[in-house]
Amino acid sequence: MHLIFLGPPGSGKGTQAALLEERFGLCQISTGDILRQAVADGTPLGNEAKACMDRGDLVPDRVVIGIVEEKLKGAECRKGFVLDGFPRTTGQAEALDAIMRDFPAPDGLRIDRAVAFQVDEEALVARLSGRRTCEACQAMFHLTLSPPRVDGVCDRCGGRLVQRPDDREDVIRQRLAVYEESTRPLLDYYAGRDLLSRVPAGGTVDEVHAAVKAAVGL
Ligand code: AP5
Repeated sequence: MHLIFLGPPGSGKGTQAALLEERFGLCQISTGDILRQAVADGTPLGNEAKACMDRGDLVPDRVVIGIVEEKLKGAECRKGFVLDGFPRTTGQAEALDAIMRDFPAPDGLRIDRAVAFQVDEEALVARLSGRRTCEACQAMFHLTLSPPRVDGVCDRCGGRLVQRPDDREDVIRQRLAVYEESTRPLLDYYAGRDLLSRVPAGGTVDEVHAAVKAAVGL
């Protein structure tokens, strides 16, 4: 199964993609995670992306398109994938169409569904400003909504929990504005291809997981 997760920052794309990977073996391709790793490693890609990410702006299309193309061709995506945070612009969506069409399989590949997560803006800000991420294994927690057992320590691997630099409130507002301008138009793009499912995503993680499964037929 080949899925796209669309939705504003904090709407739960990463949380739900990780669940589909864990429970159904679908490979989670998160452009945000890949870019953050590149920044942490100080690679040329990371150095190019860092300033955009810190401001809450998008990284240039050519950078993320190259990342996704390489990932899709990897062996770990054979059982299917969830694109978490890609595409985010019409240019990226068109590039994805071309990559899928030219995929080295008998008839290329097809996107089965694009899922649009819907959460109101104040809930998004609350989720993001309380988020803490493990710097070792990237597991995600929230100070009040899903706190770790021990303050500041990852339940899964014992790593240190940190706040993402782009989870400051001023940067969160900028990311939300960028979503409205650049990414929201993709809802029409996929609705026009009869591929869009809108999923209310303001409930608990389990409720949203059930809604996502129903939307994609898992
Ligand atoms: P990225 O990492 O993709 O950030 P984002 O889209 O802003 O998404 P988030 O990771 O913040 O939120 P999410 O929807 O995944 O929610 P999550 O599950 O984490 O991108 C970061 C940056 O990289 C971009 O700003 C850009 O610069 C660059 N970039 C990435 N992709 C790009 C692209 N394609 N093109 C160009 N640039 C790109 O949950 C958030 C919080 O809420 C967590 O604390 C979680 O525990 C909690 N939570 C989740 N679900 C629930 C729930 N149901 N109830 C309560 N709490 C919940």
